[in-house]
Amino acid sequence: MRLDRFLGNLPRFNRKQVRLLLIARRIKVDGQVTSDPLHEVREFSRVELDDELLQAGRAPRYFMLHKPMGCVSATVDLQHPTVLDLLDEPDKHDLHIAGRLDFNTSGLMLITNDGQWSRRLTQPITKLPKVYHVHTEQPISPEYAETFARGLYFAFEDLTTQPAHLEILDRCSARLSIVEGRYHQVKRMFGHFQNKVLTLHRESMGPLVLDPALAPGQYRHLTAEEIQQI
Ligand code: URA
Repeated sequence: MRLDRFLGNLPRFNRKQVRLLLIARRIKVDGQVTSDPLHEVREFSRVELDDELLQAGRAPRYFMLHKPMGCVSATVDLQHPTVLDLLDEPDKHDLHIAGRLDFNTSGLMLITNDGQWSRRLTQPITKLPKVYHVHTEQPISPEYAETFARGLYFAFEDLTTQPAHLEILDRCSARLSIVEGRYHQVKRMFGHFQNKVLTLHRESMGPLVLDPALAPGQYRHLTAEEIQQI
């Protein structure tokens, strides 16, 4: 929210006082003095009046997990292990998944408490490619690549998928790059050809690539550089 609104929402300041505090340059956001009423204040921002702390700011957290097969992309599940069970971190209820994967899909999963960041990653409008390695039951022909590039009609959602890029690797395996994350999207795309997906593995989301040092079930913090790439 805007800084002037954040300050005005505190019971101790009225609008005039807020204006005066800003003009007097008595407000700091993340250690920097600002007089801009439009300065963005997030739940992660530290806000000070002189040397008094008005908001400490929660720490933003970002993790990369190698999701194994047989684990649910949810925060709670009564029957199966969830991806959050794999994290040895405090306050896990504060975290959410940026782009779910099916129970038997493996690969890159990003977990964070920063909603703005995860929206940038998953919104179709940002068109970040998500790259999957696919193994199928039947051979994959060049016709698949043409069909996926044109887009496929999904009757349930009444939409045509965005153009997708298919690289055929061998008879029954391929690398597919899609910019959306519709429900069971990859399986449904191959399902159009009555070709069952046997294994599915997400290799990357935009510039973020699954760290090859992570075995299935392992995770690590994202680096500052990785966080900034989104
Ligand atoms: N598409 C699918 O069908 N499943 C996934 O887990 C991800 C993309």
